[in-house]
Amino acid sequence: MQTTQPPSPASGTREIPDDVLSFYHLCDGEFEGKACQGTACFAARHFNPARWAEAERNHPRVYCLGECFAAPAKGQQRPRPPVKVCSRHGIVLGRIAAGGARSLADYVKQGGYAALQQALGQTPEKVLAAVEASGLRGRGGAGFPTGRKWRAVAQQPPGQKYVVANADEGDAGAYIDRYLMEDDPHSLIEGMVLAAYAVGASRGYIYLRAEYPLAATVLQAAIAEARAAGWLGPKVGGTAFSFELETYIGHGSYVCGEETSLLRSIEGQRPEVMARPPYPTERGLFDRPTLLNNVETLVTVPWIVRHGGEAYAAIGFSKSRGTKALSLNSLFNRPGLYEVEFGVTVRHIVEELGGGLRQGAKLKGVLIGGPIIGMIPPHLIDTPLGFEELGAIGAGVGHGGVVAFDEHTSIPDLVRHVFSFGAYESCGKCTPCRSGSGRVEEIFAAAIAGRARAADLGECRDLVTALKLTSLCGHGTGLARFAESILRYYPTEIEPCFK
Ligand SMILES: Cc1cc2nc3c(=O)[nH]c(=O)nc-3n(C[C@H](O)[C@H](O)[C@H](O)COP(=O)(O)O)c2cc1C
Ligand code: SF4
Repeated sequence: MQTTQPPSPASGTREIPDDVLSFYHLCDGEFEGKACQGTACFAARHFNPARWAEAERNHPRVYCLGECFAAPAKGQQRPRPPVKVCSRHGIVLGRIAAGGARSLADYVKQGGYAALQQALGQTPEKVLAAVEASGLRGRGGAGFPTGRKWRAVAQQPPGQKYVVANADEGDAGAYIDRYLMEDDPHSLIEGMVLAAYAVGASRGYIYLRAEYPLAATVLQAAIAEARAAGWLGPKVGGTAFSFELETYIGHGSYVCGEETSLLRSIEGQRPEVMARPPYPTERGLFDRPTLLNNVETLVTVPWIVRHGGEAYAAIGFSKSRGTKALSLNSLFNRPGLYEVEFGVTVRHIVEELGGGLRQGAKLKGVLIGGPIIGMIPPHLIDTPLGFEELGAIGAGVGHGGVVAFDEHTSIPDLVRHVFSFGAYESCGKCTPCRSGSGRVEEIFAAAIAGRARAADLGECRDLVTALKLTSLCGHGTGLARFAESILRYYPTEIEPCFK
């Protein structure tokens, strides 16, 4: 059992009992200088086999450092990624592409806090209506309509309500939120204050993963600046509205990105996933109505308030409105951050933005949105980027991290890697996820070693069905989606391993 005290919330030390502490993987600073074992590093392990071997030896494991553009990565040593706006409007990445806006002065110079100033002169209902009209859907993975979630919190009776930013960004391959927070922190703060104003919340938390220490420093400085300028604290912008905001640093658990787990983590409880309903919108943090949104979702809000919901809804495609930030891994010739309008094809992302794969390698497949989502095989890369369109081929938009694999990755190796991650990060509540994912890993290890039989593949199929049907959260169902896509699109790589 771990005894070290993990990082405390910015506002003061919070005692964490041992039975809660044992849930977490990391204590303060334990990842620093460590090699990363995330999926983007796995895909790039042939570029630096020694580093990958080091990553595999790490205990506790380090799963994603958010340096996938330079994978295989090793803790905070890399330059920043290139950033490019490839849409009509740089709604999310515009300021970062222009050099960033870490200070309040730089942010204000680029139009920052104008949306909040404008909103404070209007009713909360007007802000809420703009977000509803925009068609914005959550960027944290599920694509839930943001306006509908805000309305659900606003409709709760007045009293203590919370706004929480999900800055856990655990999906290997994603480093969007990291650079938004490091280089444009006030856009998140402004988005959160607007959200609080719209739903009637007076307190907020940014739940930030420990693996992003620079983001913590930058955000805490930005919060202090915003408070000093009157954009946070009592009487925001000189009005009767108050909003207090602080950061809470996580402890290296992937599943804490799941909303119910995240809220329990802030409360200091053992962060197992909880069944819903009740949804956090009704009974969330400390049992109070809570609006929980992803960082990119919240960063989008000031633009919507400034330009109107209709202007946002005019961008994009099908039921996926607006723009999406994407982070491309190091297998591409041009890895980096890109903002695109929904509707571009996966081929456009791979070939035009990414410039194809390094060393002229052949594409074996693409994962968009983390390891627990369906793989896109080369013959389906003309599918457009859209929630429904990618969902129809078993894939998804997820968090927008784009990880390409080339012929150096054998598919059975990838399955073993993903299920090893799945087993390691399971919160343990559902049996197929807690034990089944480890069993799939074991079976694929045997298959890779030439020791598996056809019956073992049958057992894997049964376990995948159980994961799909009985998992309480997207961790288990996502593992099932990944496995289903592999069994469907790569049978010639899988079946010969089971004789
Ligand atoms: C296992 C698991 C991990 C997740 N990790 C994240 C994460 O790191 N960041 C995030 O924004 N959402 C994550 N989510 C989704 C959240 O539960 C939630 O849906 C999201 O933060 C809501 O924000 P949105 O509506 O703005 O997308 C995760 C979900 C699951 C099941
Ligand atoms: S699916 Fe896995 S991570 Fe999700 S609640 Fe069940 S055991 Fe926990």
